[in-house]
Amino acid sequence: EKAWGDAIPVAELEKGWVTRVKVGGRLLAIYDTPSGLFASAALCNHGGADLCDGYFDGHVIECPLHQGAFDVRNGRAVGAPAVRAMLTYEVRVEGGMVQVLV
Ligand code: FES
Repeated sequence: EKAWGDAIPVAELEKGWVTRVKVGGRLLAIYDTPSGLFASAALCNHGGADLCDGYFDGHVIECPLHQGAFDVRNGRAVGAPAVRAMLTYEVRVEGGMVQVLV
């Protein structure tokens, strides 16, 4: 059973960047993009690096360890050596709070 969990106040998000949050015991990454907020698992599915320490540009997060890349809108792997889509989560804003469906 999934439920919306509070992640972080919108005002505390890193504008145009990636923010590390914890929701329901899960470490997640929230991405502030030109087309809204998106969320994924914080740890890279290639080798477990923390994507929140990576380089974020528009809609693509680049992993800090081997520079694998993912499109945060759909999770798709868009740069080697990442091959599997990353786990993504639905995001919404309620009363100034970013919430994630986990
Ligand atoms: Fe992220 Fe290898 S750990 S690309």
